[in-house]
Amino acid sequence: MGLTETTRKNPFPAKITERTLLNKEGSTKRTYHLTLDLTGSDISYKVGDSLGIFPENPSNQVKKLLNALKKTGQEEITDPRSGSQMTLEHFFTTKANLLRIPLNLHETPLQEILSSFAPLLPRFYSIASAPSRATHTVDLLIATFSYMHEESEQEGITSKFLTETAELHTTPIYIFHHPTPSFTLPTPETPILMIGPGTGVAPYRAFLQERERENAPGENWLIFGERNRTIDFYYESFFRSLQKKEFLRLDLAFSRDQKEKVYVQHKLLEKAPDIWQLIQSGGTVYICGDASRMAKDVTAALHTIAENQGNLSPLEAKHFIKKMRRDKRLLMDVY
Ligand SMILES: Cc1cc2nc3c(=O)[nH]c(=O)nc-3n(C[C@H](O)[C@H](O)[C@H](O)COP(=O)(O)OP(=O)(O)OC[C@H]3O[C@@H](n4cnc5c(N)ncnc54)[C@H](O)[C@@H]3O)c2cc1C
Ligand SMILES: NC(=O)c1ccc[n+]([C@@H]2O[C@H](COP(=O)([O-])OP(=O)(O)OC[C@H]3O[C@@H](n4cnc5c(N)ncnc54)[C@H](OP(=O)(O)O)[C@@H]3O)[C@@H](O)[C@H]2O)c1
Repeated sequence: MGLTETTRKNPFPAKITERTLLNKEGSTKRTYHLTLDLTGSDISYKVGDSLGIFPENPSNQVKKLLNALKKTGQEEITDPRSGSQMTLEHFFTTKANLLRIPLNLHETPLQEILSSFAPLLPRFYSIASAPSRATHTVDLLIATFSYMHEESEQEGITSKFLTETAELHTTPIYIFHHPTPSFTLPTPETPILMIGPGTGVAPYRAFLQERERENAPGENWLIFGERNRTIDFYYESFFRSLQKKEFLRLDLAFSRDQKEKVYVQHKLLEKAPDIWQLIQSGGTVYICGDASRMAKDVTAALHTIAENQGNLSPLEAKHFIKKMRRDKRLLMDVY
């Protein structure tokens, strides 16, 4: 009998088998390594792919809402989107975006209230392991954070669910495969430059596991950054072991180890002649992680390198970088 196809509409209930805080004592961050067991699913992935994960809302928020509606949670309701029957508590836990509560909770019939909730959408996480390493598991690297929402401190829903609330080996984590169209490895001979501060390093762990397995002759160069070297260096022993074997060139930008910020783009500019040489020799450049600032600043550094090292005018440098993107030699996975 074949396996049921895992899709966004039919997600697979994976279990967390391992969860480790990667930051050491004294760190200002909490970023976790997770392993999910995929046994029984039909998911088959390549390096660079991501997983879609459906979160659960925190039980205290669900209870607060049930109290406001004067309901127990055990009422049978119909999910307005799927038409499935479920309890009200299950609907609020897994189907509704509770950050945007419809204004008129009273007087309005229950089923109408349910229809006015926005859906609880899945979040995406880069797979941090190569399928050749472990066929029935995937590793993820997940950053936690909090932020202010309507004058109260709120934690990221999915990151908190995965790193705190979900129980190891027990809680089903509903996942589906999200393949990347192009953010994957080129031929084994092609040099690669991987730029990834923070959780942006996740897919590169998978890339390097794969390149190590196939004993790829192409150069591997990683530029990683985080806050502090001694406490925020994710997967340090793996990267160091590859560096020791001269399989990996490693440059590091720890932003808070000194007074002035040091970011990955500063390392790029420092190593501009070598970066230019890698690009000129047909290498592929990857950028992964924060979209709002990092990716823009790194792209600007690449423009500067093209101008200064390639003697290009700003307009020529712009066309050059555009062409790299078109040719899939500058690839981004940013969020
Ligand atoms: C292709 C892809 C790959 C990704 N890979 C990873 C990965 O490998 N690891 C990973 O941790 N994340 C990754 N993400 C981001 C991830 O999908 C979620 O967006 C992230 O975990 C926040 O989701 P949440 O449900 O915890 O937070 P939410 O509850 O959705 O948070 C909502 C609010 O918090 C803000 N916010 C989001 N992140 C932060 C932050 N770090 N600090 C402060 N405020 C924030 C948002 O702007 C928003 O206003 C990836 C995203 C994409 C699209
Ligand atoms: N919405 C928000 O307010 C918000 C805030 C933070 C992160 N995020 C998101 O959270 C996700 C993952 O975050 P993360 O924990 O993996 O790491 P991160 O927040 O991206 O930080 C990783 C490293 O990047 C540095 N950094 C900050 N600004 C940078 C820039 N302009 N260029 C290059 N490096 C820069 C950080 O330094 P410093 O911290 O010392 O400056 C830190 O050393 C990303 O999607 C990011 O967008 C969102």
